[in-house]
Amino acid sequence: MSGSDLESFKKAAALAAVEYVKDGMVVGLGTGSTAKHLIIALGEKVKTGLKIRGVSTSQDTASLAARYGIALNDHEPRWRLDVAFDGADQVDPSFNLIKGGGGALLKEKIVAASARQFVVMVDHTKRVPVLGGSFPLPIEVVPFGWGNTARQIEVLTQSLVVLREHSGAPFRTESGNLIIDVHLATIDRPQDLEVALNYIPGVVETGLFVDRTDVLIVGTPQGIETHNVKRT
Ligand code: A5P
Repeated sequence: MSGSDLESFKKAAALAAVEYVKDGMVVGLGTGSTAKHLIIALGEKVKTGLKIRGVSTSQDTASLAARYGIALNDHEPRWRLDVAFDGADQVDPSFNLIKGGGGALLKEKIVAASARQFVVMVDHTKRVPVLGGSFPLPIEVVPFGWGNTARQIEVLTQSLVVLREHSGAPFRTESGNLIIDVHLATIDRPQDLEVALNYIPGVVETGLFVDRTDVLIVGTPQGIETHNVKRT
């Protein structure tokens, strides 16, 4: 399957997601290539009269939203988000996610948790029988003593931990933190792992999104699949 096929499945999922947006809504805007399709499609609707405001999950998303005429409430201390949209790196059969491939997981999780409805858009290759394996779990940590934090993550997970780099230097998140990518063979109990990781001092947030998906929209070669998720 070519990259352009995958891109078209992501775009199809994003276009289906746009249908969840109604006039007057405040909308959480995710980060990544799938979210980009959604923002462009929303921008087109704004041009023809749709009235919405957004909250962005990264500088890239904020710039894109601005370019497409979507006004942002990012600097307000509290939002009432009707719906938030985002992509994902992996989705398991219980609709739990790994996110953070783009390093925006902290704002992404804050925005998802603030929305009445969290809509996840993916192409079909993101669905996996169990989280982990091919995609490492990103964990945002504060720079102070990061090596000690990474060691505690390594002991907890018994897995390889790698400091994420960008252009030969440690990757910095928008909050000035670092990302540790954890290469877990499988994540059998995501909720337990999320709680245990967040217990380690220095961990800011993990890329595990457990029991947060309300709607999953999947772009596949056969068309769009929509899953309305009953949260536990
Ligand atoms: C950004 O930090 C990530 O969580 C993205 O949402 C995730 O990596 C999915 O990205 P794509 O939509 O580009 O596949």
